[in-house]
Amino acid sequence: MRGRDARGDLVRTVEAARHARGQAYAPYSHYRVGAAVLTRAGRVYSGCNVENATYGATLCAERSAIAAMVGAGDLDPVACVVVTAGRSPGSPCGICRQVLSEFARDMKVLLLAEDGRGRVAARKTVRLAALLPLAFRLQGRKTDRE
Ligand code: THU
Repeated sequence: MRGRDARGDLVRTVEAARHARGQAYAPYSHYRVGAAVLTRAGRVYSGCNVENATYGATLCAERSAIAAMVGAGDLDPVACVVVTAGRSPGSPCGICRQVLSEFARDMKVLLLAEDGRGRVAARKTVRLAALLPLAFRLQGRKTDRE
């Protein structure tokens, strides 16, 4: 059997994040975000930001994608794509960095900015460990997975 196509996996992940951005519920900020995580098994899970009238109860796209992944019984992300609009890509907030790092200390993070015509205006690739060095871990506790 042929090995998995890493580039094809990433393309599928980007497409899922772009599609998810189209589903964003952002009536307050109008800042639409789509995210998708690729797992070691080659599966892709996506999510969008879901805002709330309280503002504080807003869910970011990255955490929404992670919730879809966990809900499907997959716990092994290897990459995360985040799509926003504008000239420069957005970057995951601190809470999302911590939530991503729960499932992989390090993963590839691809940040894309789309222009008004849906074309990639700018991109940045960064490792999660660079975005969140010294991520919090509960010392002395083993998770069910260890
Ligand atoms: N947002 C995300 O979806 N991901 C982030 O990492 C940062 C912020 C969303 C939350 C809110 O709906 C909007 O962007 C503006 O903060």
